Amino acid sequence: MIPEGSTRPLLEVTGLTVDFPSGASRVRAVDEVSFEVRANEICALVGESGCGKSTLAHALVGLVPPPGQVVAGQLRLEGETYSSTSPREWRALRGAQVGMVFQAAMSGFNPVATIGRQVEHILKAHPETFPSVAAGRAYFEELLGLVQLPVQRVWGAYEGELSGGMKQRVAIVTALLLKPRVLVLDEPTTALDVLNQRLVIDLLRQLHQRLGLTMIFVTHDLAVVADVADRTLVMYAGRLVESGGTREIFGRGRKHPYVTALIEAVPSVLEDGLSIRAIAGEVPNLAHLPPGCRFAPRCLMAEALCSEVEPALQCDASGHAVACHVVNRVDWRVST
Ligand SMILES: Nc1ncnc2c1ncn2[C@@H]1O[C@H](COP(=O)(O)OP(=O)(O)OP(=O)(O)O)[C@@H](O)[C@H]1O
Ligand SMILES: [Mg+2]
Repeated sequence: MIPEGSTRPLLEVTGLTVDFPSGASRVRAVDEVSFEVRANEICALVGESGCGKSTLAHALVGLVPPPGQVVAGQLRLEGETYSSTSPREWRALRGAQVGMVFQAAMSGFNPVATIGRQVEHILKAHPETFPSVAAGRAYFEELLGLVQLPVQRVWGAYEGELSGGMKQRVAIVTALLLKPRVLVLDEPTTALDVLNQRLVIDLLRQLHQRLGLTMIFVTHDLAVVADVADRTLVMYAGRLVESGGTREIFGRGRKHPYVTALIEAVPSVLEDGLSIRAIAGEVPNLAHLPPGCRFAPRCLMAEALCSEVEPALQCDASGHAVACHVVNRVDWRVST
């Protein structure tokens, strides 16, 4: 749901495209992706494995792993434009404007330095945020309190001395240290046990309320998406295929056949018992994409046109966007 009365988006991503070289050719992991996020929104990014979610998340903070490269696109944050043609500019976003939390398994901490040393290092590199390192440490302590961790337990500890759940909470707090406007989280709960998954999601929700955070999180957990996200973006084989309010996407407003298939593939206890409908086939190899719509070979609604022409993402007045010849044509017929 888009908050009532919200005006300009906080973040606007336009035509973001990321390539990885592959032999003499290249793999386009993110292909002309455009979307908007409003201030204080929680935005979920979903899609099957290999669809380009992590690559997109990394691109937002200028951290696409080499040899990957942002080859096109623009990012507008609070009216400031950052262009992919200036990687230095784009990287300047990282930390201070857009914070990043990596997948739990790879926390991003240096294993041979204490957490406190690493926090001090960040604070010294960004004197513009706090008047002194002591003031920055006090803010770090305050954030630790919000995620229910005592500073005495964390400050002198090495990464390996913390449990998975603690490490992930410290990673979130560290990403928030420089007071970014947007926090990007790549599968923040995937490597955690069920209880810690719940705890981290609840704490993120509290941080969102207390700090007025805007969040973009990548996840495979559609139950969490339905529960916490205002807006949902769905990627398929490098392209954004549908985006809109979570209530619409998980309710009757959902349009793209892939999104329906993805939601129906989640084990859910319905009135008639357990229902799981797997999606037949696999995500195509990005180096050998089928012609037309990338989902067409697996799509139960596909028509001849779908295997010939790639559908464009079409957005309606409410901000709901979908890339599908069949549903866009049906909508057009209904509205005329
Ligand atoms: N380091 C890399 N080198 C070469 N190609 C890569 C690299 N990282 C990603 N890719 C390409 O980009 C595609 C998308 O990868 P990405 O990690 O973004 O997917 P994902 O949606 O995050 O998947 P998952 O849900 O499994 O994390 C991959 O299928 C691969 O073709
Ligand atoms: Mg990923």
